[in-house]
Amino acid sequence: MRRILITGSNRGIGLELVERYLKQDDTFIFASCRHISEASTLNTLALQYAERVRLVQLDVTKQQSIDEAVEQISREVDGLEMLVNNAGILPGGVASVVPNAAKFGFLEAEAMEEVFRVNAIAPIMIAQAFSSLLRKGTSARLINMTSDAGSIEMTQSAYHYSYKASKAALNMVSRCLSTDFRADGVIVVSIHPGWIQTDMGGPHATRTPAETIPSMMKVIDGLTMADSGKFFNWDGKPLPW
Ligand SMILES: NC(=O)c1ccc[n+]([C@@H]2O[C@H](COP(=O)([O-])OP(=O)(O)OC[C@H]3O[C@@H](n4cnc5c(N)ncnc54)[C@H](OP(=O)(O)O)[C@@H]3O)[C@@H](O)[C@H]2O)c1
Repeated sequence: MRRILITGSNRGIGLELVERYLKQDDTFIFASCRHISEASTLNTLALQYAERVRLVQLDVTKQQSIDEAVEQISREVDGLEMLVNNAGILPGGVASVVPNAAKFGFLEAEAMEEVFRVNAIAPIMIAQAFSSLLRKGTSARLINMTSDAGSIEMTQSAYHYSYKASKAALNMVSRCLSTDFRADGVIVVSIHPGWIQTDMGGPHATRTPAETIPSMMKVIDGLTMADSGKFFNWDGKPLPW
């Protein structure tokens, strides 16, 4: 069984990953989200796949919540084959610029801190808390859901300041974690899922989750240790830092 933990799995890309991995018989999914009682699709999946899915309450910004999630998952399994740091925020989504988090001249530290807390700090704290389980997994992989908006080299215009900077920070986190996990054989990468029609991506995004997630899963499943510490597009092409 491949034991997989996905954060922010109640909607968008996280939910698509849960649904698609559950279609593979050899997976056991820990589907985490902030508010289980409001996650209607996840609750339906938990009934449908009762043998292979567990719902886990996890607010990625709260250390107590992370610790409780580790405890819950450790009661069920002694290792994880995959952890997907998927939860992320972009205030207002792609379409609307929320000035205090996005626009130079209007930025406010608190609004920016919240974006950094979710997108860059939480993935490190989660990697740290789940490191023992990952190290005990077979050919384990840690996937940080980043964005090409975090690529310094690809950036030609300034917008969404906190989102872009937080994803650039997450990319550095991936690189650092890849060195800390290398000796244990845990693969760590940053992956850009494409511009996808979700609450964050908005209705004008170029692709639906169904159009890119299966390809991204093939890339994730095909990763080897030689890929660790790299930054990939959803179709497997390398992206510049
Ligand atoms: N969609 C795109 O075009 C696109 C492009 C590049 C990168 N990405 C990245 O892909 C990932 C998923 O994006 P998406 O499009 O699926 O976004 P989404 O539809 O807005 O979903 C975001 C998810 O993150 C969760 N989340 C936010 N804050 C959280 C917290 N403190 N604790 C736990 N969960 C939290 C949300 O849970 P709640 O329902 O509780 O808020 C939700 O499940 C993000 O990291 C995003 O940056 C997306």
